[in-house]
Amino acid sequence: MAIRKIAKLGHPVLRQIAEAIPVSEIMSQETQTLIDDLIETCLDANGAGLAAPQIHESKRIVILDLEEDEDEKYTIWINPIITPMTEEGMLTFEGCLSIPGLRGGVIRPHRIKVSGYTEKGEAFERELEGFSAVVSQHECDHLDGILYVDRVETPTLAYLEEHRKYADDLLEMSFQGED
Ligand code: NI
Repeated sequence: MAIRKIAKLGHPVLRQIAEAIPVSEIMSQETQTLIDDLIETCLDANGAGLAAPQIHESKRIVILDLEEDEDEKYTIWINPIITPMTEEGMLTFEGCLSIPGLRGGVIRPHRIKVSGYTEKGEAFERELEGFSAVVSQHECDHLDGILYVDRVETPTLAYLEEHRKYADDLLEMSFQGED
């Protein structure tokens, strides 16, 4: 296990389409070590989630801190596929360990279905709502080289300090020009 360096905005690895993990290789030492490193790095950075490309490994693995999964600190998904279950959007202020010091409002579907494999190589399918659905989409976007700043409501993008000061004004701005 090791705390790995986190790739920052501008590093090409964050823009690659990550490779799927063959199911037969999920239990391999290599994949399991990568999962352990993701967990250790995310814990160290106090993150809500982390995707393998963020530690310079272009592979389709994400870990997430989901409220629903109280028994585990992080839920691990391999080769996840997300399907929106509604067209209704929800705006959340997002941040990213690869883009430190910034927050921005992103509108995403608030109900999704996720399928993929667990860290034990078992297929799963589940539905998620609200904040968990948003975090899932943010992390899985990393596997396709997409960052939240690509989807941000531009006027809401702010440095953390300004975000804290002006969150209400920023929220209002995100709804301007929508009608
Ligand atoms: Ni991120």
